[in-house]
Amino acid sequence: MDGAVSERLDLAGKHLVLGLSGGIACYKAAELTRALVKAGATVQVVMTEAAAQFITPVTLQALSNRSVYTSQWDAREPNNMAHINLTREADAVLVAPASADFMAKLLHGRADDLLSLMCLARPIERCPLLLAPAMNREMWAHPATQRNVAQLRADGATVLGPDTGEQACREFGEGRMLEPEDLLEEVVAFFQPKSLVGRRVLITAGPTFEAIDPVRGITNLSSGKMGFAIARAAREAGAQVTLVAGPVHLPTPRGVQRVDVRTAQQMFDAVLPAVPQHDVFVATAAVADWRPASLSEQKIKKNGSKVAPSFELTENPDILAAVARLPRRPFCVGFAAESHDLLKHAREKLVRKNVPLIVGNLGPATFGRDDNALLLVDAHSQRELPQADKLTLARQLVAEIASRITAMTT
Ligand code: C5P
Repeated sequence: MDGAVSERLDLAGKHLVLGLSGGIACYKAAELTRALVKAGATVQVVMTEAAAQFITPVTLQALSNRSVYTSQWDAREPNNMAHINLTREADAVLVAPASADFMAKLLHGRADDLLSLMCLARPIERCPLLLAPAMNREMWAHPATQRNVAQLRADGATVLGPDTGEQACREFGEGRMLEPEDLLEEVVAFFQPKSLVGRRVLITAGPTFEAIDPVRGITNLSSGKMGFAIARAAREAGAQVTLVAGPVHLPTPRGVQRVDVRTAQQMFDAVLPAVPQHDVFVATAAVADWRPASLSEQKIKKNGSKVAPSFELTENPDILAAVARLPRRPFCVGFAAESHDLLKHAREKLVRKNVPLIVGNLGPATFGRDDNALLLVDAHSQRELPQADKLTLARQLVAEIASRITAMTT
């Protein structure tokens, strides 16, 4: 991670109330508090008595830099109404972990401790409730819990997770709380503008790898970071996202459906049948233009000869151009990674690929880095998105795409 990304404060200006109900996942709340604070949020922790059996208020006070509330009888508030005051300035209440018992309580509007009292007393239309369930898989799967979760959703709560995996009870299944970094990603996403709700976005990312022999191949320096950032930004904006990725070792953004491929032909074969199910296609992949005409079955050896081996190349299919040629094509966005004359080359590509928008960037300056600068070029105008981390740029690009498709359909 370079400086630009670690400095991005996705939750700057947000005030969160973090509620902890009782469960072993309380140990993750310490990391979560730290992550939320690091992302720029102010965090007010409220704990139930049961939660305090698992982790002490001292730990959470130190990490949030605020004293923790645990009781509705806390006399620190001048009006003695912590349950009212705590949510009046909050942008959201996040209950993590949300135990089965706590959710059952919320469902009935019961309010016999500070956290449930506060959830009930919050201004429902301007202080959303986010729940991160954490419990044994049988408890999660129980019809009572499922009924409660469905009703809590219907009442307006957002349910984050739970995850599937090994549980503290040594059982394996669905019910464990999302990891702190995943919860952070979900909370950040929650606050992003929802400009692509109901839209389906298909993205290609990364390089391709064209084998020469079993151990060698032709590839390039694309890291896939820009495409992965666009996938995350599109999902944050509410879209359903499919990401077709070349060989890269990047984590899949939450909520994104990923298809891994290696060669340009495989990318083409994954993209083309998926196109009809999508409204937007963003081609960020650095697809190899050429591949060896035939694959050597065995590693090409030197064999003492001083003559360099030679092999024929054959052209790869142009994925973007093929999608743009379809009669019912999605809104297509191409990328142009150039070393010079960005605007000129981007304009040429706009015409050659027959797409409404080309995003230019200086390839050598951005490959592998966490920041970039973009130039958005259409038939009539150009707009610069100045140097920033790739997720910030991806959000700006997504907003631009959203406004263009909205303008087309209204
Ligand atoms: O043709 P060129 O590589 O200059 O164009 C770059 C744009 O076209 C990028 O959006 C890239 O993802 C896309 N492309 C593609 N299939 C290829 C080559 C490029 O989709 N075979």
